[in-house]
Amino acid sequence: MKTPKVTARAHTNIALVKYWGKADEELIIPQNNSLSLTLDHFYTDTTVQFDPTLTADQFTLNGQAQKTTKITKFLDIIRQMAASQLFARVESTNHVPTMAGLASSASAYAALALAGSKALGLDLNSKDLSRLARRGSGSACRSIYGGFVEWQKGDSDQTSYAVPLVENLDWDLKMIAIVVNDKQKKIASRAGMQTVVHTSPYYSAWVKRSKEDLLALKQAIAEKDFTQLGKIAEGNAMCMHALNLSATPHFNYFEAESLKAMQLVEQLRDQGLECYYTMDAGPNVKVICQGKDLKAIVDSLSQEFSNEQLLVASAGPGAEILEIKN
Ligand code: PMV
Repeated sequence: MKTPKVTARAHTNIALVKYWGKADEELIIPQNNSLSLTLDHFYTDTTVQFDPTLTADQFTLNGQAQKTTKITKFLDIIRQMAASQLFARVESTNHVPTMAGLASSASAYAALALAGSKALGLDLNSKDLSRLARRGSGSACRSIYGGFVEWQKGDSDQTSYAVPLVENLDWDLKMIAIVVNDKQKKIASRAGMQTVVHTSPYYSAWVKRSKEDLLALKQAIAEKDFTQLGKIAEGNAMCMHALNLSATPHFNYFEAESLKAMQLVEQLRDQGLECYYTMDAGPNVKVICQGKDLKAIVDSLSQEFSNEQLLVASAGPGAEILEIKN
């Protein structure tokens, strides 16, 4: 018999203290804790149905058939948990440019973990959903929750998962994604991380620094200290990119336009408009600011970037089921 057809939605998250290196490649256990903000504007909707008439998994993304290797590996984990051998039809729609450093893998695997487990009749709690999502893409474990979320690294499959810090923000924070390039990134995060862990002479300094940043960021969040939050996020992101520059072979995610965006943010700050930047495994720059300054900042940025390149997001919710069709 076919299982119910389950649709789930999960939002992306952007880390303010980054995850950049694994301690366990297979289980995706990170080297350090990370802390993110889930966003409302970027999300993935995924529908899963297991079907005895299928002879292999099928996967479409935005209506186009895709390779299933990674999806099948992930579904195997769910099948094993549910003692099922059924293949699945997976249909995803990304409301975020795919693989452009806007964390589409985070929303993708969080939505797939929720829809896939529910379709096979597993009623996982949030902690177990987070553990499951982590196996698809590390950052996905944080997208199970809304608002500020910490991924506690743990040291095993059982102990590595995200916890919510502040799910409903009583703080008007905004993130402006400057889409420099929405093409797929040149170095996948998995490969980038592997290279830095094994070759950057600064890797142990990064682990130490990210511990300090995490503590300070948690305090800034508790005190709603925007200046501290912004400084920590910007500094932590640049430390992560310094790992890439110091790896062998060295690599980076910067494009000329990324550097231009970062310089603009610094100029705006000098002019008294408080904003900070962060960047992930892609050339797009995300600007963190407060709602009261949003209009002035977007107006200034739009002198250099088109309106289509400037996407504004606020804090978003955790993963949820949208529909179950029997
Ligand atoms: O989970 P992955 O493999 O997509 O890696 C995400 C890595 C960063 O986005 C650069 C940092 C982070 O913590 O999200």
